[in-house]
Amino acid sequence: MKKVDVLLGLQWGDEGKGKVVDVLTPNYDVVARFQGGPNAGHTLEFEGQKYVLRSIPSGIFQGDKVNIIGNGVVLDPALFKAEAEALEQSGHELKQRLHISKKAHLILPTHRMLDAAYEAAKGKSKVGTTGKGIGPTYTDKVARTGLRVGDLFDDFENKYKAVKNRHEAILHSLNYSYDITEMEKLWFEGLDYLKQFPIVDSEHEINRLLNDDKSVLCEGAQGTMLDVDFGSYPFVTSSNTICAGACSGLGVAPNKIGEVYGIMKAYCTRVGAGPFPTELFDETGVKMRNIGHEYGAVTGRERRCGWIDLVALRYAIMVDGVTKLIMMKSDVLDDFDTIKVCVAYRVNGVETEDFPFNCEGAEPIYVELPGWNTDLSKMTSENEFPEEFNQYISFLEEELNTPIKIVSVGPDREQTIIRYTEE
Ligand code: GDP
Ligand code: IMO
Ligand code: MG
Repeated sequence: MKKVDVLLGLQWGDEGKGKVVDVLTPNYDVVARFQGGPNAGHTLEFEGQKYVLRSIPSGIFQGDKVNIIGNGVVLDPALFKAEAEALEQSGHELKQRLHISKKAHLILPTHRMLDAAYEAAKGKSKVGTTGKGIGPTYTDKVARTGLRVGDLFDDFENKYKAVKNRHEAILHSLNYSYDITEMEKLWFEGLDYLKQFPIVDSEHEINRLLNDDKSVLCEGAQGTMLDVDFGSYPFVTSSNTICAGACSGLGVAPNKIGEVYGIMKAYCTRVGAGPFPTELFDETGVKMRNIGHEYGAVTGRERRCGWIDLVALRYAIMVDGVTKLIMMKSDVLDDFDTIKVCVAYRVNGVETEDFPFNCEGAEPIYVELPGWNTDLSKMTSENEFPEEFNQYISFLEEELNTPIKIVSVGPDREQTIIRYTEE
């Protein structure tokens, strides 16, 4: 029986998951999303075209692969319809090969209102959510009061009204004024559209596929440092973004997990509020943002930029059980004379390599490595890498005790270098 491989972000999201899932898809029969929802924005570029996927797995462009939206995902039918129709209009037929779990939870228009109302009520301590209703939808799931895709086929109108009424009472108590008339119209149109897709028992489907020796790649959304248990709480998303999330978000048993690909940028970014020990507030950070085009794929928000953080990465590798690393956006550092790497923190005057309970105020301790001052973006093999870049790779591999198997040197599918180093 085949095992499932998992690809996960190791930082605060936007590591480049979409690009690499697309690159790896030819090696798999199935690609599945297991958590998150339209808070994600996964960018793919090939043949001069750029696509941003939010709820649809990034395996959708490579041949006739089956793509699955698993039970752990939260789905907004209106946003899903807009996303899927745009793909269909650009010539990508989806209806037969995009399967949706009956157990995936629905994001209601009032969930989005609650997201906005809770953020407004938090004032200065707001999380800086994507405003897509993610937190309130997962809250309803855990409170056992949510609506699932499978509910569509049984007395749905009444179930919807009951949940909406409950939400409206909360919104009223928060004095939050809103008008969801147009949103609700699009939402119900989205539901009708959704019904045209295979709505399946995805846990059965995936396990059947594995029994039939088919290979599955699970695509994470967000990143490990945004995990609701292990991320920089409360500045996190509301799902388990870690490897274990693939088990609960798809119905795959832990002993069926094969490779765990951990993906990171050659530096680090974060969007939204919350601690970020290696954040740069100077012109170096601005330079990274400009060269790396570090603006949100969905919201357009400025991403905060900083040096790579090995304390956070070691922690992510530990909780995810990463077997192989993938380093993205190496080309963004082409033009820096010195590259800094955070190897430890100083917390309350004490040096530590362990990620602390609260990393707010942790002071990064850096090692400086020479920059390569070479254009990596046109390279096609690791034999062309300059000495200083090889040194950077080796330093990270040693410190993280995990091999870097793939190096990305540009946004295009083709700008991806697989390394053939000894295991
Ligand atoms: P995801 O959410 O993890 O899929 O990542 P995003 O799509 O939100 O952000 C990654 C951004 O970096 C996108 O704009 C990609 O097109 C771009 N990108 C991916 N890999 C590379 C790379 O190696 N070099 C550069 N310069 N850009 C990259
Ligand atoms: P991808 O999959 C980066 C961040 C938000 C906010 C926090 C909570 O593209 O990497 P939420 O709307 O989930 O309740 O917001 O999480 N966030 C992301 N940051 N990439 C993402 O997804 C993110 N999804 C959520 O900015 O700080
Ligand atoms: Mg993104």
